[in-house]
Amino acid sequence: MTLQGLDPREVWNERMVNRLLEIFDYQEVKKVIEKHYKVLTPYFADCKSLLDVGCGFQPRLYNIPETFGIDVSRDMLTRGRQFHAHFPFIHGSAYKLPFKGKMFDGSQSLGAMRHMEHWQPVIAELKRVTKRKLAFSLLICNEKHQCGKYQWCNSMDEVTSEFKNEVYSVPLRDLGDFENMLFLVEV
Ligand SMILES: C[S@@+](CC[C@H](N)C(=O)[O-])C[C@H]1O[C@@H](n2cnc3c(N)ncnc32)[C@H](O)[C@@H]1O
Repeated sequence: MTLQGLDPREVWNERMVNRLLEIFDYQEVKKVIEKHYKVLTPYFADCKSLLDVGCGFQPRLYNIPETFGIDVSRDMLTRGRQFHAHFPFIHGSAYKLPFKGKMFDGSQSLGAMRHMEHWQPVIAELKRVTKRKLAFSLLICNEKHQCGKYQWCNSMDEVTSEFKNEVYSVPLRDLGDFENMLFLVEV
């Protein structure tokens, strides 16, 4: 699978680590992350295990005893280990998670799926390894902000209609020109 024709392991390199450190300092991004915590802390409260897919160097943690993070980029994981020395970071791809079925009470993928070319196989993998609760965020293109990176980003109806019966979506409108949508799916 490619990211704009490039191998994601090459895109998510040390330069990108430094760029993300800058982005995480933006007030808008801080607000979105705060909102995620506000919604996801109670959502995952009854989970004893959690997988964070595309965790980067900054896994989102909720005091869940068995929490694991997985990411395709070794540079992200190297930096992550510097910040969280004891956190179990795993190297692997969201398209083929190296776990047996239903291994985690909950799973999440935040700020990561919009960087993936295909969303269906990733959601299928997340559902496969998850017993009960899944959360993922997507950036939604609108008239002002057309990221145009992948076809599906420009036709979000496809994604929202797939989940219309089971989703609890939270629009997070603090990212300036574009919208971030959080999907909570009971598996
Ligand atoms: C913007 S960062 C988000 C990191 C973190 N989830 C957060 O919210 O701070 C996107 C992450 O997705 C990861 N990623 C991209 N494609 C992936 C894939 N196919 N499998 C696993 N991780 C992937 C990148 O390496 C990167 O660390």
